[in-house]
Amino acid sequence: MPHRITIMATKSSKRSFLYTLALLVLITSCPFTSVDAVSNPIKTVVVLVMENRSFDHMLGWMKKLNPEINGVNGSESNPLSVRDPTSKRFFFKEDAQYVDPDPGHSFQAIREQIFGSNDSSADPPPMNGFAQQAYSMGNTSAMSNDVMNGFDPDNVVVYKTLVSEFAVFDRWFASVPASTQPNRLYVHSATSHGATSNVASLLAQGYPQQTIFDNLYDAGIGFGIYYQNIPATLFYRNLRKLKYLFKFHPYDLSFKQHANEGKLPSYVVVEQRYMDTKLFPANDDHPSHDVYQGQMFVKEVYETLRASPQWNETLLVITYDEHGGFFDHVPTPVRGVPSPDGIVGPEPFNFTFDRLGVRVPTIAVSPWIEKGTVVHGPMGSPTPTSEYEHSSIPATVKKLFNLPSFLTKRDEWAGTFEGIVQTRTEPRTDCPEKLPTPVKIRQGEAKEDAKVSEFQQELIQLAAVIKGDNIFTSYPDRVGSNMTVKQGKYYMENAVRRFFEAGRYAKKMGVSEEHIVHMKPSLTTRLSKPTNIVP
Ligand SMILES: *[C@@H]1O[C@H](CO)[C@@H](O)[C@H](O)[C@H]1NC(C)=O
Ligand SMILES: *[C@@H]1O[C@H](CO)[C@@H](O)[C@H](O)[C@H]1NC(C)=O
Ligand SMILES: *[C@@H]1O[C@H](CO)[C@@H](O)[C@H](O)[C@H]1NC(C)=O
Ligand SMILES: *[C@@H]1O[C@H](CO)[C@@H](O)[C@H](O)[C@H]1NC(C)=O
Ligand SMILES: *[C@@H]1O[C@H](CO)[C@@H](O)[C@H](O)[C@H]1NC(C)=O
Ligand SMILES: *[C@@H]1O[C@H](CO)[C@@H](O)[C@H](O)[C@H]1NC(C)=O
Repeated sequence: MPHRITIMATKSSKRSFLYTLALLVLITSCPFTSVDAVSNPIKTVVVLVMENRSFDHMLGWMKKLNPEINGVNGSESNPLSVRDPTSKRFFFKEDAQYVDPDPGHSFQAIREQIFGSNDSSADPPPMNGFAQQAYSMGNTSAMSNDVMNGFDPDNVVVYKTLVSEFAVFDRWFASVPASTQPNRLYVHSATSHGATSNVASLLAQGYPQQTIFDNLYDAGIGFGIYYQNIPATLFYRNLRKLKYLFKFHPYDLSFKQHANEGKLPSYVVVEQRYMDTKLFPANDDHPSHDVYQGQMFVKEVYETLRASPQWNETLLVITYDEHGGFFDHVPTPVRGVPSPDGIVGPEPFNFTFDRLGVRVPTIAVSPWIEKGTVVHGPMGSPTPTSEYEHSSIPATVKKLFNLPSFLTKRDEWAGTFEGIVQTRTEPRTDCPEKLPTPVKIRQGEAKEDAKVSEFQQELIQLAAVIKGDNIFTSYPDRVGSNMTVKQGKYYMENAVRRFFEAGRYAKKMGVSEEHIVHMKPSLTTRLSKPTNIVP
């Protein structure tokens, strides 16, 4: 268990702060397993995790363009009522549009989508409860139609091009049959540390597990997080340590510049704008945000990397945290999936992390990848039941960079995909420099005066913790609950700025690199017009 020692330090300035610097002494005693080194042309891996879409919803219709892809042809259907054999059926369509509101993707909603009931013993699962579960959210067919629907490839032209030019994975699953945050946690740490839902208070305190960032740092390999409103990677507590302060870069100022100068580090995480405002629309693909913005963002990231002197050593991986309630026809794996760390999820489900979530879109891009590659499963490697899921990212990074140990039992089990960049003797020279411009899907502008979503509220609560506002409010449930999107955006951007400022100051004071800065707004700050409230 980590020991926590608290040191206090004060700084007097116009607005005085009190920094509480908590020292985490971690006793590392993980069993080490070695990963074989491989010959590797890749020196930079870039990871982009989009939000809440299933494979069939985003890419299923691309089967028309390449029959090798395990997608859809419209024969797929779900009944309105699983128990009623004469029930109306919803067939999978090709006219997905702007989706608002957001379909269900809690643990219990997903169980019903996958198994058609609360009984999760079917093997393989029938994948027949999506329409029924969607219907139950409002007792109208509208949501059922939305979830039984995929994009016409011409409405997601950026992906259409990437899929035909590079590699698409048609058997990559969410790591947990649960919502966003547990799955996002798997991407960089191969566990959710027991989380099966988005628990705002735990997220705001930060999850304690080791991450791929820690492994890279220990091996002397560079990484960088290019964030927009707030880095969601701060949900990992370790990343708040002072030693990682300079790993965070504002995307707008730094991503293109570092790429142009050939200075991107070995492991790069690009985070989206999670807050949807008129001037800066969200681009994370989270319903109801416009997929057009997400496509524009992927296009920008690709074109930036393509123009970089580092292009010939780069691998870009784009995936989706979870399926967001949208139908997928491929049964989720329920056999031979290891718990990462033995932690059992909370009541009432007591989930043992022994099955995966719904299939999600994953695309890999590199000049070392053959045009039109379709990657199915990992074909029984490293174990007969291994699959691609989010832990495949750290597992593959470990192979590419020759890191010594796995994070958990899950990345040890997950399939790795370094093979897709090892078939050629030299990089391709025919990769497009530009991607097509997508069509705008949403009519009208961002609803910046809307109340924040659950996910956005989690980010606001994270902001409250790093800024120290949780001390004075009825944290955690209330912070941000009545902010608008626009207010939330200002609040979190301000919090991030101040947290990093405080970090720079603490570093100047010579505070140890292992510390995490905890800020407290001063009493005067508290009593005057609360600086924490946005204009
Ligand atoms: C659609 O795909 C299914 C499953 O692969 C197949 O059985 C069916 O014949 C196909 N239907 C059409 C119209 O191609
Ligand atoms: C599943 O269980 C919940 C209670 O946990 C119940 O409300 C719901 O109706 C059940 N769903 C089905 C499809 O049986
Ligand atoms: C839908 O109808 C059922 C049965 O009439 C009812 O129990 C349920 O509360 C309704 N759900 C919503 C979201 O209106
Ligand atoms: C990438 O490699 C190709 C083939 O060797 C070469 O033609 C091209 O100039 C290289 N590009 C960069 C940015 O180094
Ligand atoms: C879940 O675990 C708790 C505590 O161990 C136990 O009381 C409860 O009965 C378990 N629930 C189920 C459904 O197994
Ligand atoms: C939020 O709620 C609190 C108390 O419920 C209220 O005092 C405050 O004015 C509200 N703020 C906004 C922006 O609605």
